[in-house]
Amino acid sequence: MYRTHSNGELRLANVGQEVTLAGWVQKSRDKGFMIWVDLRDRYGITQLIFDEERTPKEMVEKAKTLGREFVIQITGEVIERVSKNKNIPTGEVEILVKKLDILNASKTPPFTIEDETDGGDELRMKYRYLDIRRNPVKDNLIFRSKVSIEVRKYLSDAGFIEVETPVLIKSTPEGARDFVVPSRMNEGQFYALPQSPQTFKQLLMVGGLDKYFQIVKCFRDEDLRADRQPEFTQIDCEMAFVEQEDILNAFEGLTRHLLSEVNGVEIAAFPRMTYDEAMKKYGNDKPDIRFGMEFGELNAVAQHKEFGVFNNAELVVGIAVPGGASYTRKEIDKLIEWVKRPQIGALGMVYVKCNEDGTFKSSVDKFYDQEDLAKWAAATGAKPGDLICVLSGGAHKVRAQLSALRMEMAERLGLRDPKVFAPLWVIDFPLLEWDEETERFHAMHHPFTSPKPEDMHLLDTDPGKVRANAYDLVLNGNEIGGGSIRIHDKETQALMLSHLGFTPEEAKEQFGFLMNAFEYGAPPHGGLAFGLDRLVAILGGQETIRDFIAFPKNNSGRDVMIDAPSTIDDEQLKELSLKLNLQ
Ligand code: AMO
Repeated sequence: MYRTHSNGELRLANVGQEVTLAGWVQKSRDKGFMIWVDLRDRYGITQLIFDEERTPKEMVEKAKTLGREFVIQITGEVIERVSKNKNIPTGEVEILVKKLDILNASKTPPFTIEDETDGGDELRMKYRYLDIRRNPVKDNLIFRSKVSIEVRKYLSDAGFIEVETPVLIKSTPEGARDFVVPSRMNEGQFYALPQSPQTFKQLLMVGGLDKYFQIVKCFRDEDLRADRQPEFTQIDCEMAFVEQEDILNAFEGLTRHLLSEVNGVEIAAFPRMTYDEAMKKYGNDKPDIRFGMEFGELNAVAQHKEFGVFNNAELVVGIAVPGGASYTRKEIDKLIEWVKRPQIGALGMVYVKCNEDGTFKSSVDKFYDQEDLAKWAAATGAKPGDLICVLSGGAHKVRAQLSALRMEMAERLGLRDPKVFAPLWVIDFPLLEWDEETERFHAMHHPFTSPKPEDMHLLDTDPGKVRANAYDLVLNGNEIGGGSIRIHDKETQALMLSHLGFTPEEAKEQFGFLMNAFEYGAPPHGGLAFGLDRLVAILGGQETIRDFIAFPKNNSGRDVMIDAPSTIDDEQLKELSLKLNLQ
């Protein structure tokens, strides 16, 4: 037996027992007549003591050779510590070592294996297995496991069946590029890795499984950000014989269960907001509603005066920043610079200081009197002491710009408290989205999403106005899940694909299997997929999903530990009938 106890287990009650422990040397202190070693494993740290008088001499000699991260096994007696360490659960005892075995030596690690490490990101990723020994990373992985187990428990209890779907498939469009895998046995042909199991889960509904879920890897070749990885995990779900309401209730239930079990937070019914309302109030389809600063549209009160910039704008819109009236001229200038950065792209910013005495001081006093500005304050909900920030321009752009400013101000004011959870459903998404680049409509969610029956008649005349039975679950300003009610008849699916620019031949080639299935008794169905990495990160109080993935990729999509992607040799290329044409 390698060990009788873990390193997080022993207490005063164990004093007098002989125990065997194993683990890694966190550090050792050699005082000449005595050596102390902190022995670490996943469960904690236990202090070992090698005493010249009480420990066999050869064991003391061996202990002197120990370095950081050596793997050792010891046997000894649990004794009460003279100077106790109140900071760790095992801090009242130590082990008087009788026998030491070095199971494996270790080179000096390239960074310190402590909660606060001196290792930079890239170095920690290269030696991720050492990084995982650190509490913050280890705790995140344990946290993730706990969330996954709760998900499985909840969904199984609710009658969902976990089914695995294939990874070597044909492209399922979710809006990103596919990762492809060449087939050796089918010369010149490729599999695509799933961007999601979307079509398979729909086929499982045709198959009559009724309620499906899967914790599943998905692959998307897209630009990476803090909340995106090229391979990530979904909690993918689908249900038959349901309407949107059934789905929202089912997965609100799961989310509430997780918040309660994992975070001890009880939340009543989640608010719902239409996409249009979210865009109008927050300039964003994933609003962070932990704080206010809702948009106030000012066209009615700011246009038709002498100020040409506003008169020519499609939208004039502002937010009230709490306490912002105290900002100095310099601070405000900096804020204006911030919105003018290329990443935000505003042309300028008009501001109004709402003084404590009820008067206003604005950057456009030349054009607007106190009565005008009072109307702005009313529209943005500004109180004395606030600063109204106003942007103007094309509606779409200006909303995105003001949304970025709103989030930035909330961050600066500490309003984005990671311990506060504010979920909401955003519903009634548009079915289609105009893509400037390709000059075509794209499915906003995916091509299998059902239009709202009452909007079907607009499909030919005003496609951009058609709403979908599609919804997103938003938590603290992050899209943690999304789904829709699906099309389940061949005609509508064919119509949708034709609106997306597929010729009938292309539609048949890519999605014939699905449309065929729809001809054999496809039930009405719908579903949703959570982004597990995002969900776990946010429940864990963070937004960077990489910290909750055991072996993540860096921002260029590389695994720097195993050095992937990498080239393959000519022999392998030949076998796959591939020829590289690199310039
Ligand atoms: P969607 O594309 O909205 O829907 O994806 C569902 C959820 O997956 C997460 N997500 C990601 N997480 C990390 N890295 C990424 N690159 C990434 N891309 C997406 C998000 C998102 O909300 N098949 C549909 C679901 C359905 O209709 O049932 C789908 O995949 O949290």
